[in-house]
Amino acid sequence: MSKAHFGLIGLGVMGENLVLNAERNGFSSVVYNRTFTKTEQFLNGRGAGKQIFGAKDLKDFVSKLERPRRILMMIKAGSAIDSVIETISPFLESGDLLIDGGNSEFRDTERRVSDLESRSFGFIGMGISGGSKGALEGPSMMPGGTKASYEAIESLVSRMSAQVEDGPCVTYIGPGGSGHFVKTVHNGIEYAIEQILSEAYDLMRRLTGMSGVEMAEVMGKWNKTEELSSYLVEITEACLRVKDPEDGDDLVEKIMDKAGQKGTGLWTVLSALELGAPVPTIYAALNARVISSIKDQRLSAQKIIQSPPIKPFDLGDPQSGMPILMDSVVLSCFASYAQGMELLRLGSEQYDYKLDMPSIAQIWKGGCIIRSQLLSRIQSAFNAHPALPNLMVDPWFASEVNKRLSSLASVVAGGVTSGIPLPCMTSTLDYINSYRTGRLPQNLVQAMRDCFGSHTYQRVDKEGIFHTNWIE
Ligand code: 3PG
Repeated sequence: MSKAHFGLIGLGVMGENLVLNAERNGFSSVVYNRTFTKTEQFLNGRGAGKQIFGAKDLKDFVSKLERPRRILMMIKAGSAIDSVIETISPFLESGDLLIDGGNSEFRDTERRVSDLESRSFGFIGMGISGGSKGALEGPSMMPGGTKASYEAIESLVSRMSAQVEDGPCVTYIGPGGSGHFVKTVHNGIEYAIEQILSEAYDLMRRLTGMSGVEMAEVMGKWNKTEELSSYLVEITEACLRVKDPEDGDDLVEKIMDKAGQKGTGLWTVLSALELGAPVPTIYAALNARVISSIKDQRLSAQKIIQSPPIKPFDLGDPQSGMPILMDSVVLSCFASYAQGMELLRLGSEQYDYKLDMPSIAQIWKGGCIIRSQLLSRIQSAFNAHPALPNLMVDPWFASEVNKRLSSLASVVAGGVTSGIPLPCMTSTLDYINSYRTGRLPQNLVQAMRDCFGSHTYQRVDKEGIFHTNWIE
């Protein structure tokens, strides 16, 4: 057998689909899994009759690959990655390349890149988004590491990734852990949009008693608009249409209202806090998942803390896609992207990643979970102004915000009066209101800090640093 082009470690669903994708694109492959029975099952099943071969151990695996070896690891983030690196590295030779395609914490990737480069191997931390279908058909890929390492995998990943009108959904992201940093922020935006759509669903359901199909119709209308056409709206429509085969009720109503998470949303918020990036909509989505998970406490509290009666308020005509509600969803999605992009910009400065914002928007246009038509507008906004401080001040976004803000305010006000939690929409309204307010009340915060802690303050009418004895 001639040596294979590509190696894959970890035959989970993502791993299986990615290797099938590579093979379909002309890259013969060798696969290794910790348990060989899994490898055998795959080779006799989905991998049968293809240019995919198995290996029983890592030495055998490495020996079956052409040089420089390109090895994608699709295994659980954390210590499992370090342990595979340690086990495989004695068999590797100079120039061979390991790719971590999981959701690793970007600082871990940073460490691994410098460790492996110092041993003359390459290491790429590559965020991959698209779920299992995307992995098979073409995901969005976010590879970070040295440029030379990227060049060694460029032909492979540009064929495997999703394709949009202006190219493949993969680009060299930057050095070190930048690929995983960008994937983490991608997931933070994903958390926010999922929560925003869930808030819209909650409002429709609780205020109007619409059925799953009726709500799905609204989502279907939204998915035809430039502002909301996206994969997440598309799957929300699909989820709302599904019936429980046991009794024909909407299946979504049978699902326990506790949302899980695997860590990337939390890391997005932690990075934002460290970098001083305001991400209230994303943070609200994370908190919403956390509060959802304390179901027992919520059920008890429901009996103790009274909720005001629901006072119906206008979401707009369902036949026209509930325009008032849609405005609120649109602005909350704008805010999610704006906050994520701002976090990327600040991270890029802090870690010297030199992120190219239009390219990131471009590779998110296809394959990934947050793909949306809006990303073309985001790409254009950053093309026009590469150092744009906030997406919402781009002329197109600003005019949309101005048109839709009163709808968001009325929906949030309605939710507040009726006791319906709308964490992402409420945070978005506060975010926009704060961002557009030239004078905030933090002058008083500064006065208090100076009063009790002599922290000093600046003045608006003259230069300098001041301190006052506030209490005689
Ligand atoms: C992933 O990358 O696995 C998901 O897109 C996000 O996962 P989570 O919602 O379980 O954190």
